[in-house]
This record gives sequence, C-alpha cells and structure tokens, in this order.
Amino acid sequence: MDVKFVNILSHELRSPLTTVQTSAEILDHLLSSDIVDTSIMKKHARQIMDEVADMAQLLEKVLVMSRLENTQTGFSPTIADPVTFLEEVLDRPFVCGRYSQKVDFGIKGEHRPALIDPFMLTHIVNGLLDNAFKYSRNKENTVAPRLRLSFEASHWRIMVRDTGIGIKSADKTRLFRSFSRGSNVGHIQGTGLGLEIIKYFVRCHKGAIQLKSIEGKGTVVVVDLPY
Ligand SMILES: Nc1ncnc2c1ncn2[C@@H]1O[C@H](COP(=O)(O)OP(=O)(O)OP(=O)(O)O)[C@@H](O)[C@H]1O
Ligand SMILES: [Mg+2]
Repeated sequence: MDVKFVNILSHELRSPLTTVQTSAEILDHLLSSDIVDTSIMKKHARQIMDEVADMAQLLEKVLVMSRLENTQTGFSPTIADPVTFLEEVLDRPFVCGRYSQKVDFGIKGEHRPALIDPFMLTHIVNGLLDNAFKYSRNKENTVAPRLRLSFEASHWRIMVRDTGIGIKSADKTRLFRSFSRGSNVGHIQGTGLGLEIIKYFVRCHKGAIQLKSIEGKGTVVVVDLPY
C-alpha cells in the first residue's frame, strides 16, 4: 500500500472518528447530568453507530485492496454457471436486503459455463448494484435497478442500469481512482473505492468495464467477460 493511499485513508478516518468522539462526549455529559432527553441521546447513539458502520465498511475495502497486492490470494477462478451464480448473489442479503425495491433481473442467450472467481465476481455484482440503488435513492420516479446477463458468441456480459442521479461528464474519467467521488453525490455516503476495486477484479478476469451516464437521467455499467 503506498504512502499516498495511507495518507488519504487516515484523512478519511479522521472525520468519522471526530464525530464519534463528539457524540460520545455529549452522551457522557448527558448521562452524568440530570438532563434526561432520550431523543437527543438516541440521536447521538445513532450517529455513533452510523459512523462506526461506515468505518467498518471502509476498513473492509482496505482489506480487499491489500488482498489485491498479495499475489498468493489473487485470482482463483473455477468453472461455474453465471446464471446460478448471479441468482445466488441476488438471494444473499448483503446489498439487496438493504433496499426495499427488488432488482429486475433478466437473462438473454444460451447459458454457458464460464471461468469465475467467486469472491471477485460477488464483489463486482454487489458493488455495481449497491451504486445503482444508492445513487437512485434520493431521486423521485426511479425504477428498480436492472441487472441483465447475456451470453454472446465471444463473451458474456453483465449490465447494471439505474435511473438515478447520474454522473457529470467532467467527473466520469476519474471515478475509477481511489477515493474519487462525483460532485453531485450530496449526502450519499461512500468511500470512493468501489469502482477501483471492481475494475481491478474485472481485469483479473481479462474482461472490460464501461460506464455510461447522463446526469439526472441514470447510469449503465457494462462488464464484458470471457468464458
Ligand atoms: N450508478 C451510479 N450513479 C451515479 N453515480 C455513480 C454511480 N456509480 C458510481 N457513481 C459515482 O462514482 C463514484 C465512485 O463510485 P464508487 O463505487 O467507486 O465509490 P462510492 O460509491 O462513492 O463508495 P464505495 O467505496 O462505498 O463504493 C461515486 O461516488 C459516484 O459519484
Ligand atoms: Mg460504490
């Protein structure tokens, strides 16, 4: 892990740690005084829990990043059926359980087995669906994210489409870099590591990833993978 990355990481941790510290101090103060205001206590307890959850997510991603640099635990593919694989990913509550809408899943073409690293592909699909849900949340009239699996002659394809906030053209090229986030995200939480990791995993499979988006209209991410 390079020095720049560690610097950014410690910077990213400083702000949630400060919030946790402040909320804990306020709770401590309230508990040792006569003021009984449960709503304010609840608010600070919630703040601590939210920030801790975010930090845990950040650390999880950093673990994945360091795993990428450890060649011993790198790409380890097996032959699997992409249809069953994606159905299983959708069944697990990791991403989809957090949102009330269901992913609209469709399959095209004749099913074929493919070379899949289960850890990496799970991460790719969950990361793209997480973005599709997360960046649609605050916008009205959004429909559930679409996940399409298609089998072509030379490759198979995963496509994730949403009708969310989209991405400004000026931001598009830099989103695959560490900690890089779009300028229109507002209060939507994120570390800016997801796409960089996804791109790395796609490359491990010798695949390609493309992102197309129109600000205010939605985003589509296409991942092409060899069999
Ligand atoms: N489907 C999408 N719709 C709109 N913006 C998106 C979408 N996917 C990615 N982005 C933009 O690209 C940025 C980088 O995405 P990435 O997944 O790497 O990070 P993140 O979602 O901010 O955080 P995390 O590391 O938790 O995934 C996001 O912050 C957002 O600005
Ligand atoms: Mg993300």
